[in-house]
Amino acid sequence: MKALLVAGARPNFMKIAPVYRAALVYDNLECLIVHTGQHYDYAMSQAFFDDLEIPKPDYFLEAGSGSHAEQTAKVMVAFEKVCVAEKPDLVIVVGDVNSTLACSIVAKKLLIKVAHIEAGLRSFDLTMPEEINRMVTDAISDYFFVTESSGLENLLREGKSESAVFMVGHVMIDNLLHQVEKLKECDVSEFGVDKLKREYPSYFFMTMHRPANVDDPEILQGIVDCLNEIAEVHPIFFPVHPRTAKMLKQFKIKLSGKIHCLGPLGFRESLYLWQDAVAVLTDSGGLQEETTALGVPCLTLRENTERPITIELGTNILAGNQPEGIMKAYAELSESFVEGAADRRECQVPKWDGKAAERIWQILLA
Ligand code: UD1
Repeated sequence: MKALLVAGARPNFMKIAPVYRAALVYDNLECLIVHTGQHYDYAMSQAFFDDLEIPKPDYFLEAGSGSHAEQTAKVMVAFEKVCVAEKPDLVIVVGDVNSTLACSIVAKKLLIKVAHIEAGLRSFDLTMPEEINRMVTDAISDYFFVTESSGLENLLREGKSESAVFMVGHVMIDNLLHQVEKLKECDVSEFGVDKLKREYPSYFFMTMHRPANVDDPEILQGIVDCLNEIAEVHPIFFPVHPRTAKMLKQFKIKLSGKIHCLGPLGFRESLYLWQDAVAVLTDSGGLQEETTALGVPCLTLRENTERPITIELGTNILAGNQPEGIMKAYAELSESFVEGAADRRECQVPKWDGKAAERIWQILLA
């Protein structure tokens, strides 16, 4: 079998790493990596390839930034050429970014089978570009690899055949568990953030980049007011996404000096900080799940989540993006989790055990 494994943006890199690694044991399988170039800065892309031990991509498509239509179109035009040249048996896409959507459409129209890893998640919020990407990709995929029971339910409700839907666990958690072990062998004194961590033993870790939170000045100001208040109690370590940096500057919004702004971090440096944080504040999909897996309290700055298992079985609280909701969730978080780091619990999510990628290849090659 020849498979093209597609990645475009930062959250994809964590997901393809274990899939690529698990492919190496098969002699009858050729797995080529295609990087669409949706993310391209060293810190947003190559730093992850280095940390996650992913080899240089076989193809780099240089799609770059742009409007949704521009970016999606650039990926489609470039990826079509790769598919025509390579004639793969299968295209594997992960997650819900524009590259996921673009490459699944191209492959399907060339009659190439499409496997979607992390299929079936639904926020039911069509103002999120990712929700559209998830729905369209799932409308045309041939194999659906599901991370949690809600994904299974959503796909069956949408009429997918049971024989195409596979509950395999989560490749992103495969990567996380692998990297937790790797981190134990690292000389952390080489991390730029080590000094900060030693200086402030009790801190919150924060990430935020969603357009719904950062593109509107009033909403962003409201969130920052809350952060400034929370930082009076717990200093906040905040690696700032390029989109957020741009918006903070454009709207001239000031963060408290107790919020320590960092550039985008590599995977291991980021893990090194958040795994020991008192709590994580985020609007990321992945971090909601990763904190669940390691039992770290998480407050999610969104009105909804396509990952309900993190709330049912995890340590995640939905705060929304309005000041009242955020401060209410913060109070709830403080009461239930913050005092009791001892309450941190191992992940209870079925099949989040580090073996999802192995299961995926067993199914694809059966
Ligand atoms: C994309 C994904 C989102 C994911 C996020 C993780 C879509 C629709 N969105 O959002 O699901 O959670 O990645 O980061 O696919 N930029 C740089 N350097 C880079 C990449 C981007 O400076 O390497 C800046 C550019 O100004 C760009 C902006 O960030 O315009 C946004 O990048 P883009 O890829 O459009 O969306 P993200 O917000 O990163």
